[in-house]
Amino acid sequence: MKITLKQSMNELTPYEPGRPIEAVKEQYGLTEVIKLASNENPYGVSEKVSEFLAAPKMTQIYPDGHAATIRKAVSEHLQVDEDQLLFGAGSDEVILFLCRAMLGPGTNSVMATPSFSQYKHNATVEGSEVIEVPVTAEGDHDLERMLAAINEETRIVWVCNPNNPTGNYINDEEFVSFLERVPENVLVVSDEAYLEYVEASDYPSTLPLLDRFSNLLLLRTFSKMYGLANLRLGFAVGQADFIRQVEPIRPPFNTTTFAQEAAIRALSDQAFVQSCFEKNKVERDRLRTFFEDKGYYVFPSQTNFLLVDLKKNGNDVFQALMQKGIIIRSGVPLGFPSCIRVSLGTKEENDQFISAFEDVIV
Ligand SMILES: Cc1ncc(COP(=O)(O)O)c(C=O)c1O
Repeated sequence: MKITLKQSMNELTPYEPGRPIEAVKEQYGLTEVIKLASNENPYGVSEKVSEFLAAPKMTQIYPDGHAATIRKAVSEHLQVDEDQLLFGAGSDEVILFLCRAMLGPGTNSVMATPSFSQYKHNATVEGSEVIEVPVTAEGDHDLERMLAAINEETRIVWVCNPNNPTGNYINDEEFVSFLERVPENVLVVSDEAYLEYVEASDYPSTLPLLDRFSNLLLLRTFSKMYGLANLRLGFAVGQADFIRQVEPIRPPFNTTTFAQEAAIRALSDQAFVQSCFEKNKVERDRLRTFFEDKGYYVFPSQTNFLLVDLKKNGNDVFQALMQKGIIIRSGVPLGFPSCIRVSLGTKEENDQFISAFEDVIV
């Protein structure tokens, strides 16, 4: 091939998503497969969303790229101004926008490792240096070392709270103390994809912190608790000035009317959110106890997944479970080779996971 891609593309490895259910069914000749691999909502969506999606829609008309209706709904829900919001096809796309707008050769961004893969991936595409600071043995962000890693060329510090793949969270005091010491010209991205699952009372309330720290930006998503992963809608909340400067990066029709309208309905059904929160918590405690009773270390998750150290190669356990129709994630590509990451399913799904796990781990 004579076509040349930019140099930074040579350094990329493709994102390894959870295996699709249909592919696993076909490969192993299974009729029933459970996917506990991508931290989705096993309880589906609010009925308000499913009713909306069932009716025919005007697919031939371009969506409102400005996303005015969901913008208004989110601004009212969070009590922020409409111009403080930037919408993307998932928060993945917002991460891409930030990297495209802010990073390039001669710059760097600081992040924890292991953490969510897309910060590094998108920074690398832009030819920007990636400074990775290992999490502690317990899986916490090492905020002191992250602060020490910031230098003249740093443009962004990524904080994943709670962190994927560990599920650990940074508390209020630690986060404020960190923000107080990050230079004002460095953007702090607080990725809060799993915020709705957090139970800890000292998890930071970051919205009020936006008034105090002009370099803070929050990432939220409709993919997890709201059950809209397939429709792709996430957003950033930050300073209006900053959002206005990044906005031109956004493709004109990046989010669909389906996603915007479904998200409005999802947001309006907080009873559904509450019920999923409670069911997730019960299952999280139950699965944690199951693993701990067997003597395994479970990272202290505040999310809808558990990272468990089995002291075995995660790929082997992943393969063995997949043959039994249960898709989880091996810790190998996530940076924890002796672990597995299991998304919490419904009670029935978790029961099936437990029974398959008992067969596999002998
Ligand atoms: C920490 C974190 N941030 C962002 C995302 C991206 O979510 P989405 O693009 O679906 O909004 C994920 C998805 O797994 C995640 O775990």
